[in-house]
Amino acid sequence: MTDKKGMRRNLTSYGDDNFSLFLRKAFIKAMGYTEDSLNRPVIAIANTFSGYNPCHADVPKIVEAIKRGVMLAGGLPIEFPTISLHESFAYPTSMFMRNLMAMDTEEMIKAAPMDAIVLVGGCDKTVPAQLMAAASANVPAISVVTGPMLSGTHREERVGACTDCRRFWAKYRAGEVDQAEIEEVTNNLVPTGGTCGVMGTASTIACMTEAMGMMLPGGATIPAVMAERLRHAETAGGRAVAMAAEGLTPDKIMTTESLSNALRILLAIGGSTNGIVHLAAIAGRLGIKIDYEAFDAMGRETPVLIDLKPSGQYYMDDLDKAGGMAPILRELKPLLNLDCLTVTGKTLGEVIDEMRPPYKQDVVRPFSNPIHSGGSIAFLKGNLAGDGAIIKQSAATEELLVHTGKALVFESVQDLADRIDDPDLDVTADSVLVMRNAGPKGAPGMPEAGYIPIPLKLAKQGVKDMVRISDARMSGTAFGTIVLHATPESAIGGPLALVENGDMISLNVPDRTLTLDISDEEFAKRNAALTLPADDPKKRGYARLFNDHVMQADAGCDFDFLISGEPDKMMP
Ligand code: FES
Repeated sequence: MTDKKGMRRNLTSYGDDNFSLFLRKAFIKAMGYTEDSLNRPVIAIANTFSGYNPCHADVPKIVEAIKRGVMLAGGLPIEFPTISLHESFAYPTSMFMRNLMAMDTEEMIKAAPMDAIVLVGGCDKTVPAQLMAAASANVPAISVVTGPMLSGTHREERVGACTDCRRFWAKYRAGEVDQAEIEEVTNNLVPTGGTCGVMGTASTIACMTEAMGMMLPGGATIPAVMAERLRHAETAGGRAVAMAAEGLTPDKIMTTESLSNALRILLAIGGSTNGIVHLAAIAGRLGIKIDYEAFDAMGRETPVLIDLKPSGQYYMDDLDKAGGMAPILRELKPLLNLDCLTVTGKTLGEVIDEMRPPYKQDVVRPFSNPIHSGGSIAFLKGNLAGDGAIIKQSAATEELLVHTGKALVFESVQDLADRIDDPDLDVTADSVLVMRNAGPKGAPGMPEAGYIPIPLKLAKQGVKDMVRISDARMSGTAFGTIVLHATPESAIGGPLALVENGDMISLNVPDRTLTLDISDEEFAKRNAALTLPADDPKKRGYARLFNDHVMQADAGCDFDFLISGEPDKMMP
């Protein structure tokens, strides 16, 4: 960090620092600032409000509360906009844009004067992008999320985005819900601003961020519309001023130990599989690599403790009422690295000891009575998994965790869309649906297309789940026996590219294997004959940058030129 403070930081290059400061002050005074204001510590606020981002609808109120906290603590708050990403408003997929947001945020932190920054994120890709940026820029940073939406009611049922979005869409496809009702339900699935109200990716990342110490205690679960959300934001603003004075930079908080804590939380909350991709990206910025075999071993000793959709029955607002992260962290305390520093300036162990005392609730289970044991996310190996693939077994169908079936191959997301509802599709409930060319480079952007819909003709027969395999990702709000993140992806020659219709595929989650049942000779023959999709020479701009530099899922899909050299540390 530079020893220059406030407005003196990151001066524009005119070859004369005094002139640069003079000019900066002259310009910013046009906004009405006094000398006194400009001599205060500058606390930047990354404002991700956007008319295209309903999950961030309450950002203006949150920013006001942060500003109040900064000013009460003697700092000068300055907000600035960054790219804002919403899952449903990002073509071709928000993951394609995450690294752009990370670059935008990092470069703004490095370009503008700030002694600390409050990162206001929420929707799935925003918080990972901000943490990636914070890790690389290494200016004191604190995360404030918009918070989960409240759950809604549709007729006699409680509903919430987006597990119930998928459930209702599946019913509509199966003919169980008519056109009028599917339109009616859009009024109720997202009843307030805020992030998805189940343990989807946004909630998963929020919980992981609190556990890794980058967010004030309690911040992960407070619903977006609650007054407590604003009190939390005000407190974070004040704390950012103190962090600036203390020089509490992200490298002191985000360490192998604290990121391991985040992985442990991911498993214990039955979190989104996206959590591991984003954590790999954040870790890569810090020279840390995930050991996936060790992660799997961690999973085997970490039961799923929370009873939330999509793995369980409750919603995020229930988790907050049940104490939020307090009961989870308390229950996991023996397995956590308690010496890790947090944005509070205290260790995680001290933070846990100060959390609100336990009370009777049934959303967070004790270790002795988990919702699922044996690891929520399993890491698969085998000739079809290549360097690895994952499955969220806590959201899968028990009977399908050991399954052999005939492959039905879709060449791409578009091919899937074109053919999945074909009444003549050669498919049975035992088939294994394979989709390729849906990885980081092939799609591009590794879309959340791994939740391959049940073929219409089977859905109408009442089939609810099948084994599905792809190199895509899946929304954290989805469920099913779905193998994801097959690495390397098929578009660069991964083994999914070798599967032919009618091949037998065996999934054995207890043994952690995914196997294409062909001989080694046949495997080698197909591999030798493989031709990869041709590069499109017309690809330009960000798409070109993405194509040429995106890394695979196990490295978090970050760009190779953004990581901190070859990783030299492993976790967990
Ligand atoms: Fe924003 Fe789900 S769409 S959190």
